[in-house]
Amino acid sequence: MLKKRVAVLVSGGGTNLQALIDAQQSGVIKSGEIVLVISNVEGAYALERAKKHGIKAEVILKRECGGQRQFEEKLAEMLDAEKIDFIVLAGFMAILGADFTKKFENRIINIHPSLIPAFCGKGFYGLRVHEAALKYGVKVTGATVHFVNEIPDGGKIIMQKAVDILPGDTPEALQKRVMEQAEWVILPLALERICSENQ
Ligand code: GAR
Repeated sequence: MLKKRVAVLVSGGGTNLQALIDAQQSGVIKSGEIVLVISNVEGAYALERAKKHGIKAEVILKRECGGQRQFEEKLAEMLDAEKIDFIVLAGFMAILGADFTKKFENRIINIHPSLIPAFCGKGFYGLRVHEAALKYGVKVTGATVHFVNEIPDGGKIIMQKAVDILPGDTPEALQKRVMEQAEWVILPLALERICSENQ
C-alpha cells in the first residue's frame, strides 16, 4: 500500500509536528508519511525538528511574496510539486483563503486547542484560547481536529478530546495539559484515520 504524502504547515515551536514524527516512528501513523514541512515564520523551531528527522523544510514569507494571494499560490505550487495528498496545520498561525481551501477540499486538517465551537474562529489562537477559556470559567476544555474550509475553525470535526480545567490553572499550565492530554494524542490518530480511509 502506497503511503499518503503529507505536508505539515507550522509557525512556531512545532510540538504537534514532533508528536506526528514520533507517531510515525512508533507506528501509530503507518498510512502516511511526512515529506514536507513549511513555515510561514523564519527561524521557527519546528523547522529544526523537521531537519533533524531528514524531512524537507521550507519557509515562505508573505511579505516576500507580495501579498496573501501570491503567498497561497506559492504554497500551492510547493505542495503540488511534492505531490502532497494531505496537509496538516500544526500551529500554523495564518488563515488560508477560500481559493486555497477549495483547491485542497477535504485534504487539509487543523488542530485547535479547544472544544470547537467554543473559543474558536478569528482571533482565537495559541495562548489566547486558554486565556478565554479560563476567563469564561468553563470547567472542561480540550482539543479538536477538523477539516479546513473557508470559515476559520468551521470545517467538519474529525476528532475531539476533553481535558479538565483545574483550580489555580494559568493559561500556560492549561496549554501544556491540553497539548499533552489531547493535541499530541488526537492529531496523529486523526491523520492516520484520513490517510487509511483514503487508500
Ligand atoms: C498548539 O496549541 C495548537 O493547537 C495551537 O497553537 C499551538 C502550537 O504549538 N493552534 C492554534 O491555536 C490554531 N488556531 P506547536 O507549534 O508547539 O505545535
